[in-house]
Amino acid sequence: MTHSLTADAQPRSVTGRMVAVKEMAQLQRMLFEIEREFVRTATTLVYRVGDVELKYLICQHVWESAGHARFLRERGRELSGFGKDECVRESYSAIFEEAVRAEDSLVALVGFYRVLKPALLAAYRHYLETTHHLADWPSRKLVEEFILDEERHADEVAQYLQGVGGDEWTQHLSIALSAIGGWLGERESIAAPSDFEWISRTVPYRHLDTCNRGDSPIASTAYGYDPEQFPIVRSWLEDPETDARVLRVMVYVWLMMELDAVDYLATVFYETPVAPFDMHYDLARHLWDESRHSAFGYRQLPKLGVDLTRLEHSLDLYNILVQMSPPERYAMMTMEFEAGSFGTKAQIMDKMRELNDFEADTLLAFDRNDEQQHVRYGHRWLPEIMRLFNVEGSVDAFVANTKVRFEECSKTYGGQTPHSLSAEERLTGNKILALVGIK
Ligand SMILES: [Fe+2]
Ligand SMILES: [Fe+2]
Repeated sequence: MTHSLTADAQPRSVTGRMVAVKEMAQLQRMLFEIEREFVRTATTLVYRVGDVELKYLICQHVWESAGHARFLRERGRELSGFGKDECVRESYSAIFEEAVRAEDSLVALVGFYRVLKPALLAAYRHYLETTHHLADWPSRKLVEEFILDEERHADEVAQYLQGVGGDEWTQHLSIALSAIGGWLGERESIAAPSDFEWISRTVPYRHLDTCNRGDSPIASTAYGYDPEQFPIVRSWLEDPETDARVLRVMVYVWLMMELDAVDYLATVFYETPVAPFDMHYDLARHLWDESRHSAFGYRQLPKLGVDLTRLEHSLDLYNILVQMSPPERYAMMTMEFEAGSFGTKAQIMDKMRELNDFEADTLLAFDRNDEQQHVRYGHRWLPEIMRLFNVEGSVDAFVANTKVRFEECSKTYGGQTPHSLSAEERLTGNKILALVGIK
């Protein structure tokens, strides 16, 4: 009798003693789930919006959100009650699933940035108000940083939201969010009206068949052998006689075209909802790296006299890969395109040193370092993505089969994008020669 009383009473009193910690750990757990779900779903905006700079910005915000989630998980696990798993509660994923259902890309953007992100900022502020400044100082310092980030994100995106409208959509998402009383339940919850319809319950989400590039001219590919047609002339890349100034322009075009990697990698998050968070964290880093590599070209080319309105964006890789499964996409990216790029890039880097262009050397060195890291991510996460999709057999066999499948899919989905510009108008290998004063 006495024994059983003690056994009963003890857990209750332990729980009681830690209640203040548990409550805060629970809020951190909720914030972690919101940030990770933002990473999974806001990535669908990347290939839907057409503005290049906006794509870069979303990648940056996604990476920062992944960082918030990681810090929250690290700190949360120091506290009693954070929980060991990493899954997202249904009430949150329902709202994020709804947010991706906006038909118009900018309205979708507005939903994330006028409703879900401001509510997250409010949730962080609530955390600061609720917690004890001294007892929970380590969390407080993190949350103060995150608030500054969220405020900056709002400022950075503001110019893209101007004049978009989307009031009906923001109202729709606000209703969904109010039904749970805000992210942390910190507000009074208001039940959704009886005629409220969750679009996500009836309409499946599907990636776009082709990525949006807004006003930019497009084509199937930027690579070829004919200098009258393509800006990146494959034979010139390998030729030791190619002028270093030509290589510099071509390699910046190559880097800028990595925007295709940005768009197709962005599709993988949404389709892997139960991935370990560390996988999404590394993928978010990978995504942001590719957007930076693309920006290397985007920012440097105009300085070298290239008119970006004459440079066609290549869409083939997105168009082909989006038809393949996420493990296939990721396998092609890391095990084929990235692992296979080092030899050629090394030659180009050696040759370009002739130019004493410190900035170009630096950008290429960081690109190389990032790419080595991406191949490491591939070795780490490809087996995991294969598991998530019940792919059996060895990784090597899967990669080999995927290459064959890619060739097959290329026949159907590749080469379908006509040139926006005539050969006279667009940047080509021969125009690059003229640009650097060779012809
Ligand atoms: Fe890259
Ligand atoms: Fe890469």
